[in-house]
Amino acid sequence: PVATLTQGSSGLQLEAVALADIAARFGTPTYVYSRAALEMAWQNWAKALVGRDTLVCYAVKANSNLGILNVFARLGAGFDIVSGGELSRVLAAGGAADKVVFSGVGKSRAEMQQALRAGVRCFNLESPAELDRIESVAAEIGVRAPIAFRVNPDVDPKTHPYISTGLRDNKFGVAFDEALALYRKAAASRHVKISGIACHIGSQLLDPAPMAEAAAKIRGLVEKLESEGITLEHIDLGGGLGIRYDDEQPPGMSDYTAPLLAAMEGRKEQLCFEPGRSLVGNAGLLLTQVEYLKHSPTKNFAIVDAAMNDLARPALYNAYHEMVAVKPGTATAQSYEIVGPICESGDFLGHDRQLALAEGDLIAILSAGAYGMAMSSNYNTRGRCAEVMVDGDKMHLVRQRESIESLYALESVLP
Ligand code: LLP
Repeated sequence: PVATLTQGSSGLQLEAVALADIAARFGTPTYVYSRAALEMAWQNWAKALVGRDTLVCYAVKANSNLGILNVFARLGAGFDIVSGGELSRVLAAGGAADKVVFSGVGKSRAEMQQALRAGVRCFNLESPAELDRIESVAAEIGVRAPIAFRVNPDVDPKTHPYISTGLRDNKFGVAFDEALALYRKAAASRHVKISGIACHIGSQLLDPAPMAEAAAKIRGLVEKLESEGITLEHIDLGGGLGIRYDDEQPPGMSDYTAPLLAAMEGRKEQLCFEPGRSLVGNAGLLLTQVEYLKHSPTKNFAIVDAAMNDLARPALYNAYHEMVAVKPGTATAQSYEIVGPICESGDFLGHDRQLALAEGDLIAILSAGAYGMAMSSNYNTRGRCAEVMVDGDKMHLVRQRESIESLYALESVLP
């Protein structure tokens, strides 16, 4: 799944850097990203959209490391954010505020103020109450807030229920039938300016059809709005394109975008996208070292130094991440449970993996660039991983490993 990962003379290498050298220099567990793979993923999107006025807004939640944001900012990316914190990161990494769309169901007043002052491109509103709040915050500051409604098209994305967001029964977006009335209300407001419409139906989409169906529904709504004199600058079709972790067959880039472009054929609005996983997922891996091998009567365990706090997806979604030994071992391959040091049975990274392992060996856990570090925690007072970005034959530390003292630096004992 990682385009720039190859087998070199000293084991696996990302671009021209041996993973073993990264482990020797920065220790493990460490997230490692490939700049070339990030840029290839970006170009993939760009090529598929060529000839159409579009803006690709990288979904910061997938991986918010400043180094990653900066790579995309240099490529001219916009950003999809869901918090004031993410906005601060985007600006710190050199991203342009006027290419930022602000999504999320729970924007606080403070976050709205921060984003209005920064001059973001659009607030994707997800409820009538949010319209009331943005009006009041904009009035207070004395600006007109650019807004879109995230409309829930009620299509089944056919993905994991935890990451499906476009069905009628979940907390996201405004109901399709409610949208028209909300746009009329916004059109009459002095404090907001209607900028667009948005939708997002779910993540890790492997079938392009549900999104195409959603786009057709959105187009219908856009035309209805137009007939009432409500015109838009952009149509935001969200993120969601899936990637290959195991043997999934995600649609090719243009298999995904072509039906969407077709659904919008003849419309003059700018088309926006909010991809996260498809830009970073396969540009990163988690490098970990075997601490112990342990054999029970029924199972072989490889206890590694990464754990569910570092990569939560297996424990949380039963997600599969491919694993490869960094150097081919001399041991014979056998089935291992790959587990971390955390004190609960849910702390596994992979089941039944056929690997030839010895104590001290390095394992690369693939497809970990999206929702890996971003969802990590300090559970068990484990400092979070270092993050390294490879660029050709160079390795750059883009986040230091957290020191233990920093983990309790904000705490205090009673006087
Ligand atoms: N836009 C909105 C409004 C979203 O909610 C999301 C993801 C995206 C864009 C980016 O979607 P992507 O292109 O990455 O699929 N933690 C889960 C994924 C949660 C996705 C949440 N929303 C995982 O590890 O699979």
